[in-house]
Amino acid sequence: MAANPLVEMVNITRNFGGVHALKGVDLSVFAGEVVALLGHNGAGKSVLAQILSGVYPPTSGEIKVDGSPVHFHSPNDARRHGIETIYQTLALADNLDAPSNFFLGRELRTSLGFLDKRRMAEEAAAALVDLNPNFTDIERPVRQMSGGQRQAIAIARAIHFNVRVLIMDEPTAALGPHETAQVAALIQRLRDQGIGILLISHDVRDVMRLSDRIVVLKNGELVGEVRAEESDEDEVVEMIIRGRKLAPADGDGP
Ligand SMILES: Nc1ncnc2c1ncn2[C@@H]1O[C@H](COP(=O)(O)OP(=O)(O)OP(=O)(O)O)[C@@H](O)[C@H]1O
Ligand SMILES: [Mg+2]
Repeated sequence: MAANPLVEMVNITRNFGGVHALKGVDLSVFAGEVVALLGHNGAGKSVLAQILSGVYPPTSGEIKVDGSPVHFHSPNDARRHGIETIYQTLALADNLDAPSNFFLGRELRTSLGFLDKRRMAEEAAAALVDLNPNFTDIERPVRQMSGGQRQAIAIARAIHFNVRVLIMDEPTAALGPHETAQVAALIQRLRDQGIGILLISHDVRDVMRLSDRIVVLKNGELVGEVRAEESDEDEVVEMIIRGRKLAPADGDGP
């Protein structure tokens, strides 16, 4: 029998005033699984991700971690349960260097209470080089770094702090092909380590390649769910556009 999912969202709704951003969505992520979340602009993907990462509470519905109900009041609550988020416009502080970003909000201190910059630099460098042996010049402000390097910092940080579920909202939206390939390789490594990944993307081809399961939202509703290996790009695109699976009897095409 399969184990509990790492996280499970049950019948989640979220309203913003009169806007029904989510209308009863169920979503689970298992260990070592990449779940892709697809859908048109405004479908509710980011809101769902933000609920899971503690940015907003749901209007109704339940979140479970390891089968037990949880209530997140902030992203730190979610983090304490091992749920981290990486955005493309990454929440990195531009004027700080990689070690400072790595330990942002979790700074290491000496026994006298001072920032332990040396130990933070060593630990951050070790984690970054472990992830990418070519990562150099770690002491530069991160604003001088490429999108791929910024991602690497965020991902190394998540691994270092024992992330269990990593939410990636459009992680490659602003990256070139080379960096996109690097992020894809990182996703596979994280999955192999047993981390559950919720990947939001518009790139159906990338999603087919990287994910195990594909979940499609439309107008705040879950309209389709398939295993990537049992589906193809056409079927997924069809679910995104029409809000349902392609049926053989759909008669308006050859
Ligand atoms: N803070 C907010 N206040 C009011 N409405 C919001 C807020 N956040 C999202 N919405 C609305 O909720 C709906 C879903 O938005 P969401 O950002 O989840 O879409 P998305 O699927 O991530 O789209 P995209 O692909 O463009 O990123 C939209 O109608 C959006 O306008
Ligand atoms: Mg979005």
